[in-house]
Amino acid sequence: MLVLGINGSPRYNGNSQYLMSGFMEEMKDRGYDTRVLAAPKLKINPCIGCGNCETKGVCVFEDDFTHIFLPAVIKADIIVISSPIYFYAFPAALKALIDRIQVLWSRKYRLKMDEFKGRKRKGILLAVGATRGKDLFDGLKLTTRYFFDAADIQYKADLCYRGIDEKGEMENHTTVNEDIKNLARKF
Ligand SMILES: Cc1cc2nc3c(=O)[nH]c(=O)nc-3n(C[C@H](O)[C@H](O)[C@H](O)COP(=O)(O)O)c2cc1C
Repeated sequence: MLVLGINGSPRYNGNSQYLMSGFMEEMKDRGYDTRVLAAPKLKINPCIGCGNCETKGVCVFEDDFTHIFLPAVIKADIIVISSPIYFYAFPAALKALIDRIQVLWSRKYRLKMDEFKGRKRKGILLAVGATRGKDLFDGLKLTTRYFFDAADIQYKADLCYRGIDEKGEMENHTTVNEDIKNLARKF
């Protein structure tokens, strides 16, 4: 069973990376294979809305999305996104990857392909943001829900932390390690 992590932050060893590492360690201990992709390191073209995937089921671009990201998403049994909030949304590199998932949306909803054939795939969102507003994570949760739906992934759970800004703040949070353990226990 493969757990695929997708890191959204361009900041090395930052807060969302701490969440991802902790969760992946827990899953490794439970016998899962794990792989993490850093969205900012992948070289991809942004979706141009050309509609090619809606009629042909494939993207016009050949890049790290087609060669690395999409095959990993298709292979994974559990997908974990870990990301900071940038202006109430995902950072640009991760959002660009999610936009390219339009190819899976097209295969499912336009071409009626049953690509995942009843596989029970599950997804998790881990997120951090500096401020504390009630709606802080609404944008990320909605985008995640529709990404997961296009890829036939059940949105299983999320862990979102407010008031986390400077590098290192996440690891000093009083409940985070227990929260991650509890989340991993759900699998
Ligand atoms: C470009 C940019 C935009 C941000 N926008 C928001 C925001 O809209 N709301 C918020 O609460 N925090 C915002 N933040 C703060 C980050 O979410 C916060 O510093 C987070 O802990 C960074 O996580 P990381 O270490 O994983 O990169 C922003 C930070 C940056 C650099």
